[in-house]
Amino acid sequence: MTENDSRFLKACRGEEVDCTPIWFMRQAGRYMQEYLKLREKHTLLELCTQPDLAKEVTLQPIRRFDLDAAIVFADILLPLKSMGVGFDFVKGQGPVIHHPVRSPEDVAKLHVGDPEEDLKCVLETLGLVRSELDPKIALIGFAGAPFTVASYMIEGGYSRNFLHTKRLMYSHPEAWQRLMETTSEIMARYLTAQIEAGAQAIQLFDSWVGCLEPEDYRRYVLPYSQKIFARLKPYSVPLLHFGTGTATLLELMKEAGGTVMGVDWRISLKEARSRLGSNTPIQGNLDPVALFAPPTYLEEKVDQVLEQADGRPGHIFNLGHGILPETPVENVEAVVEWVHAKSKR
Ligand code: CP3
Repeated sequence: MTENDSRFLKACRGEEVDCTPIWFMRQAGRYMQEYLKLREKHTLLELCTQPDLAKEVTLQPIRRFDLDAAIVFADILLPLKSMGVGFDFVKGQGPVIHHPVRSPEDVAKLHVGDPEEDLKCVLETLGLVRSELDPKIALIGFAGAPFTVASYMIEGGYSRNFLHTKRLMYSHPEAWQRLMETTSEIMARYLTAQIEAGAQAIQLFDSWVGCLEPEDYRRYVLPYSQKIFARLKPYSVPLLHFGTGTATLLELMKEAGGTVMGVDWRISLKEARSRLGSNTPIQGNLDPVALFAPPTYLEEKVDQVLEQADGRPGHIFNLGHGILPETPVENVEAVVEWVHAKSKR
């Protein structure tokens, strides 16, 4: 098998596969003892930016489960460095931006750095991982989409209502445009460099874009995500476009770009397929919280997702959002085995 024939890449291209490929968003992390052990000695930023450590963490879930893809261990906030925005991860609080970008003056101060230089560590990790990875396992690179990354820069951390983000968008459309242009330029360069460094597929995480109404998505977001996908298209690698709570935005997100659409559990795969067209490969969509349920319920939910996918080509099994800390490892293992066994063609 060549690296290009892996089950994951074939499914992303809508080709027939022997069984449904599976990986999990946030598959490396705190639900694994191996990860927690490394975290005792290193900060999250150290794990992300030291290639030998990042390689180890990327491979931890691969060694433990029969997954079809690895995702490089990094974070969507790392490219903030290329825009001169300082941040840290604070225990119990998540990411904290030192000086949130709230006004047109703040936006004017952003610079467009060189992610190839600033994030050389991630590119190096990709190379290290690819050289150790079995050819049948695909390597995914990723970045945050401009809206989701901008929302962290503006809010300063996690947000419930995205008040500051929407206020800037509505009150200062020119500053918003500049912020989105800067962010999309950085992400386009960063992702291009990831493909050149060995990423065989790219996922753009627009995790929080579901907070927008469709018309706002069209006007304030679509052109910038579209620019990123257009820049990546010539590389002909699968481009996964993911968001949560996006049931009302699916067609517009597809218009923005991506060759595989990622959806969460709030919409059925059947409905997503009928809205996107049966030729559009889909990724999803088990509720991450189902992994905390008793095995009989969990198995029922896995069956439901597979039934919805209907054994057609072009389905990649995943959660509808990232795996949560404290998820029972044995349930993760069971889901991987069920999906492969139950979907055998
Ligand atoms: O999927 C993987 O295994 C690769 C690694 C990965 C991380 N972050 C490492 C991480 C990926 C793909 C991300 C993406 C990411 N980061 C997103 C998009 C996906 C999503 O969940 O919506 C977002 C919004 C972020 C920003 C971020 N990073 C938040 C909100 C937090 C704090 C919340 C949390 O889960 O703790 C982080 C921290 C972070 N990034 C952790 C990991 C493994 C937690 C680890 C720790 O503290 O040890």
